[in-house]
Amino acid sequence: MGSYPLIEQFARAGQGQVFAHFDRCSPLEQQALLAEAAEIDLAEIARLTRTLLAKSAGAGASLDGLAPAPYERHPSNGGDAAAWARAKAAGEVALTAGRVAAFTVAGGQGTRLGYDGPKGTFPVTPVLRKPLFHVFAEKILAAGRRYGKPLHWFIMTSHANHDATEAFFAEHKWFGLDRARVHCFRQGRMPAVDFSGKILLEAPHAIALSPDGHGGSLRALERSGALDLMKREGADILSYFQVDNPLVRCIDPAFIGWHLARGSEMSSKMVTKAYAEEKVGHFCTQHGKLVVVEYSDLPMAMQRETDAAGGLRYPAGNIAIHLLDREFVRRMASGGEGVALPFHRADKKIPCLDAAGQLVKPEKANGVKFEMFVFDAIPFARHPIVVETRRADDFSPVKNAEGVDSPQTCRDDQLRQFARWLAANGAAIETDARGLPGFPIEVSPLFGYDEDSFADAWRRLASKPAVQSGLVLA
Ligand code: UTP
Repeated sequence: MGSYPLIEQFARAGQGQVFAHFDRCSPLEQQALLAEAAEIDLAEIARLTRTLLAKSAGAGASLDGLAPAPYERHPSNGGDAAAWARAKAAGEVALTAGRVAAFTVAGGQGTRLGYDGPKGTFPVTPVLRKPLFHVFAEKILAAGRRYGKPLHWFIMTSHANHDATEAFFAEHKWFGLDRARVHCFRQGRMPAVDFSGKILLEAPHAIALSPDGHGGSLRALERSGALDLMKREGADILSYFQVDNPLVRCIDPAFIGWHLARGSEMSSKMVTKAYAEEKVGHFCTQHGKLVVVEYSDLPMAMQRETDAAGGLRYPAGNIAIHLLDREFVRRMASGGEGVALPFHRADKKIPCLDAAGQLVKPEKANGVKFEMFVFDAIPFARHPIVVETRRADDFSPVKNAEGVDSPQTCRDDQLRQFARWLAANGAAIETDARGLPGFPIEVSPLFGYDEDSFADAWRRLASKPAVQSGLVLA
């Protein structure tokens, strides 16, 4: 084995097994392994081994001092309509001034959906089968037109899907967006380790690396230069959303207005949980801080607890829609003393090389992946707030191939939304008891991407089309 300082560092850290097969690798493979090893922060792995691995799997978060979080009620749920109107106006001013950039986290592995390709390329709309990225692109394009300021759009990819994502955008000519305003960058990776903290190999020349979680977006935004670019362009608010949710209002002026009015560094949308057992995180307070407690960490008895009015005591579900202040992200990314996001462990079956260098596909969990979650940044933010939204306006993710949160439920939610917009503007449309029209229709985001823009576009139509099967408003 040649003398590489990196190899010596790994040996000193007790991670010499990473280079066990180095001598039988080709020079190219050796370079590849060295490059992967250079990505790893050995001190971080040692710290995680001491802390996270020392705990038993699933050792939950502390529940000490937990209480339900306050939130800004939507007007449909008793919120102050005049205050919401003021928030919307303030948000529109910020958009007109170019202060907002869109940000999609698209680096996940999408294992549950089981789709071959980046999840953002999954066809999702009811008639035209537009892919998720296409839907977001048109919403962002339309918002830029509405406010007279085109937006920058940052997309966080993974090492596995980066090239395919960029190729997809190029093939579709960036869906009409200015390509200089669409920025894809890779998120970081973390090595998988066995239960004693030893880094695993997936090939003699390759470490078992996986994406570092959506929380890795904070570091990746800084590393990619996105924050510097925003600063140069006068943008200070990132509108964060997930790649799997085509209903999301990527750009929501009222939400932006609340964020600004409260001087918040990180704002989050919530929906009332549909039922006690719904698998979403819960907004809570704990010792004066706003936090999100995962469904797996909140005992079922607490999830089912009700208040005096008979509603859930912990109703506020996290739907992963946030606004982030640019300099807050920078502060978090710096990882300075006391501001770093924590890692979580996930015990997984990780295909890896055994001591003899043979690839083993384990039948039960044999190791741990480390991930950061973006909502863990909330307690570090100044004046973080939670703002209520209606689920039907913002949230219908595609997570699973079938059943709950699947392409079918998402298609139905889009149809309901289009039907609601049409009915609210006086179109003759019949829906069944579930709010579904009897046939497929589609509204392009370029026609209308939320209630307001739809109403404006509908009003401008010289002759209103008959609402019938296959109607596309483009
Ligand atoms: P999910 O928690 O749904 O995970 O991600 P996933 O990896 O996409 O899907 P499964 O669990 O394997 O089925 C929520 C959002 O966070 C992004 C995803 O792309 C999605 O938009 N994400 C997740 C990242 O960008 N990076 C990650 O490391 C993890």
